Amino acid sequence: MNAPVTVPKAELHCHIEGAAPPNLVKRLANQHGMDVSSVLNGNGKYVWSDFTTFLKAYDVASGVFKTPSDYALLSETYFRMLAAEGAIYGEVFISPDHAQAAGLSYRSYVEGLAAGIERAKDETAIEGRLIAIGVRHFGTASVERVVKEVIGNPHPLVTGFGLAGDERSGHPANFSKAFRMACEAGLGTTAHAGEFGGPDSIIAALDFLRVKRLGHGVRAIEDKDLVKRLADEDIVLEVCPGSNVSLGVYTHLRFHPVNLLRKEGVKITLNSDDPPFFGTTLGKEYSSVAKTFGWSFEDQMTITRTAIEAAFCDEATRNRLLVRLDSAVEDRVGE
Ligand code: ADE
Ligand code: ZN
Repeated sequence: MNAPVTVPKAELHCHIEGAAPPNLVKRLANQHGMDVSSVLNGNGKYVWSDFTTFLKAYDVASGVFKTPSDYALLSETYFRMLAAEGAIYGEVFISPDHAQAAGLSYRSYVEGLAAGIERAKDETAIEGRLIAIGVRHFGTASVERVVKEVIGNPHPLVTGFGLAGDERSGHPANFSKAFRMACEAGLGTTAHAGEFGGPDSIIAALDFLRVKRLGHGVRAIEDKDLVKRLADEDIVLEVCPGSNVSLGVYTHLRFHPVNLLRKEGVKITLNSDDPPFFGTTLGKEYSSVAKTFGWSFEDQMTITRTAIEAAFCDEATRNRLLVRLDSAVEDRVGE
């Protein structure tokens, strides 16, 4: 008998700095003579206790990536790990503000990341794309600077623009100009909303930023009309259940609304967000959600199909990915 076919996976929501394995952060910190003991404990685990201290730990860990080759190593490591779990596609959020704070220009940041993705692709055939994000708690001017930098320095792998950071600061209206510019430049757009903010934060993101994808979006479940709107408007949620449980948005996976949202006809994808910070991986997200809610192989295939259909990639790439996805079904039938 052949080995059972694993579900091909796709990731739409992972912050590249948040995917840094602790041992890589430690190694680069030593190399650059930096002290990261405030955010990495003796067991090689990230240390944080709530969303605010998580964001702080994330900032400190990001600081060890100082050169294009550091970033190439990070993206190669992450995409190889993703491919090893059966992923065929990954989009990562990149943060030009964090690169700038570490002394890197936007261009060298992107070139480093792209080199790592190409190396991983040569070995594993995984496809990767980059979504540049503005950090909302850095303010409107900083978010607009990011989008101008992206538009002024086009790169074939940078296909999207997004908004992350502390949802509790900065109304989406402050970022509508940045999103209009991104959209006019042909970039796909997505925004974090409905993670720490309630349904109003989601409505504001939809109305002011005109996004068709939302990072998280899960607190829509608190507003019946909004759930219907998400379903009617084909809004795709980049759901990160492990992250939500880790950050205390829900106390336990079985109380997470991912299954209810899916049953209401909302388009769902599964994602890892900042995997080593939350003790997760994309593979663990698929398997824990499938186990908790009784999702079948076909249910999980639908998750990946939704992700590929919503991916910020060109149509030829999308079609190739869909063929790869379908071939997993054929392999299964032939098992
Ligand atoms: N940046 C990195 N991870 C994030 C998250 N979960 N929410 C908002 N901004 C982030
Ligand atoms: Zn996120």
